[in-house]
Amino acid sequence: MIPDKAPKEDVFHGSEDLKKEAHITSFENYKELYMKSIENPDEFWGDVAKDFFWKTKHTGQFLDYNFDVTKGEIFVKCMEGASTNISYNLLDRNVHERKLGDKVAFYWEGNEPGDELTVTYRELLQRVCQFANVLKSQGVKKGDRVSIYMPMVVELVVAMLACARIGAVHSIVFAGFSAESLCERIMDSQCSLLITADGFYRGDKLINLKLLADEALQKCRDKGFPIEKCIMLKHLSKEAEETSLGSQSPPAKRSCPDLQVPWNPEVDLCWHALVRGASDECEPEWCGSEDPLFILYTSGSTGKPKGVLHTVSGYMLYTAATFKLVFDYQLDDVYWCTADIGWITGHSYITYGPLANGATSVLFEGLPTYPDVSRMWEIVDKYHVTKFYTAPTAIRLLMKYGSEPVQKYKRESLKVLGTVGEPINPEAWQWYYNVVGERRCPIVDTFWQTETGGHVLTPLPAATPMKPGSATFPFFGVVPAILNESGEELEGPSEGYLVFKQPWPGVMRTVYGNHQRFETTYFKKFPGYYVTGDGCRRDKDGYYWITGRIDDMLNVSGHLLSTAEVESALVEHEAVAEAAVVGRPHPVKGESLYCFVTLADGVTYNRTLEAELKKQVREKIGAIATPDYIQNAPALPKTRSGKIMRRVLRKIACDERDLGDISTLADSSVVEQLFQNRCCTAV
Ligand code: WTA
Repeated sequence: MIPDKAPKEDVFHGSEDLKKEAHITSFENYKELYMKSIENPDEFWGDVAKDFFWKTKHTGQFLDYNFDVTKGEIFVKCMEGASTNISYNLLDRNVHERKLGDKVAFYWEGNEPGDELTVTYRELLQRVCQFANVLKSQGVKKGDRVSIYMPMVVELVVAMLACARIGAVHSIVFAGFSAESLCERIMDSQCSLLITADGFYRGDKLINLKLLADEALQKCRDKGFPIEKCIMLKHLSKEAEETSLGSQSPPAKRSCPDLQVPWNPEVDLCWHALVRGASDECEPEWCGSEDPLFILYTSGSTGKPKGVLHTVSGYMLYTAATFKLVFDYQLDDVYWCTADIGWITGHSYITYGPLANGATSVLFEGLPTYPDVSRMWEIVDKYHVTKFYTAPTAIRLLMKYGSEPVQKYKRESLKVLGTVGEPINPEAWQWYYNVVGERRCPIVDTFWQTETGGHVLTPLPAATPMKPGSATFPFFGVVPAILNESGEELEGPSEGYLVFKQPWPGVMRTVYGNHQRFETTYFKKFPGYYVTGDGCRRDKDGYYWITGRIDDMLNVSGHLLSTAEVESALVEHEAVAEAAVVGRPHPVKGESLYCFVTLADGVTYNRTLEAELKKQVREKIGAIATPDYIQNAPALPKTRSGKIMRRVLRKIACDERDLGDISTLADSSVVEQLFQNRCCTAV
């Protein structure tokens, strides 16, 4: 439970100024509202819902659910019977009711400094309507799945909201994923259309995205799933084309007229040509509260990604409320989340949460280190960013260059800093707090998952005293518990499995097309609880500290990867008989991939093979999964029943000789051999 009083020692606070305007001004204030939110969730969320437009009101219970597999099917329903449209609430409501039409929705900042564009709420509404009409003209209907594979451009937001406007379900695939990954996701969600772009720059590197998209579509065809339509945005290959609304694509300073864009007239459609003829008015499709809004794939421990499904009303309420309270959003804020929209952080906290509040955001296409390591702070000063949200891996990366590149810029506008993606190590926290925020800005360390839809454990900036490295306390409506291996709830200071006891509006509803997998993954181990898969410690003051994943999942640069997925990519190479992948701590990425491979008979290990294996993983999954270390392992440490002892492999990867109990090991000489042939340098 939440303590009555916040601790006074060993904690950090934000500035007093923040308290003056904050929504939640004190710990007592937080606690009081928190109690209300869990004792009477219907009333709490009902108040949040009042800010939104409902075509029809809900009937029955506000939040209905079953979290206990022993009592039947798992379900969560929020505001059943109500109908609404999320794009209407994000755009029309802000333009017409709240009179925010001229307010900037996005400052788009391209990869290249100087490449910029401003989009107001009114313009965004018009562009979303136009593109919604385009989708309709291409036969996309309510409930159809649309795959989106795009760089960080305004049109990505336009495409997702256009889907939402007509009740189509978007499935965004991060543009860093490979053609194979895209194909797998298109097929799993049975998408009828793909939206992509010609290409983009990541720093100096040109990515020909259309080439990858085409490769993915060919793979789909080869596997018997022809997808007949692909809409391509010209982001680089041609200067912006004029439409009735003026320039539709950013005036890319670094355009690339020579980019070779493959074009298949039978399948490919030009975004600009389609939009040119489309009306900028489009009546929204009124959707039921529990209609699907989007699918987003996340790694699963079996290796096959899971299509996490979120639905309309609950997700809207939850992202709106968390955005408002966790960043303490105020009308004149300029907010910047550096995540990519291809991940859940971008879905919830670049598109849905901020727009639901009528916020002004920076949408950044580039990298924190391009053209130099001051880029982030330059952007903060350029747009007077007040609330800034990034990942520990980015902080650690920039920390390496010291404080000078940060201090070249003033950063006076900053009020709140946020982090997400993995536990932040106290050293990085201190640097973020002292150097970036100059001890003035509280840090909201937000713990959440693709599955949770929004923040679940998090400080509130003016209310929660911070402890570096702790995600502190639950958000409203969220009831965490810590369980031991036998599923007993632990009280007071303790460590174990982090679970949640009841739903909140934004929790996922199912794994697309596989409800059983949803139940097995999250509800089977401890009936009655949603199991996060993370370990957690609670200290004497009741603060929660995430200790990391306790399943076969790795967190590389804030992105979850399943060891099984990387292993299966490796064993697909004919030279590999068996593979085992473990995480090895990495100073910037958090974890790096250390791969043990047992080769097929007669194959010898050499640099060429190593390079091929690396390439294989990149092609199967994407660059984020590139192995950092590959070790030739003539044999792997296994139990007598043949189970690979990953715990031992993790020790070998780190060169730690203290192996603990290895009595179940079938052949202990294998371990010594692996220690002797450790891979000391990254491949
Ligand atoms: C980890 C990202 C500690 C955690 C929003 C979780 C964190 C996984 C934090 C979800 C944090 C995320 N402190 N760990 N503040 N935020 N994680 O689905 O292991 O990409 O289960 O969602 O990231 O990653 P996902």
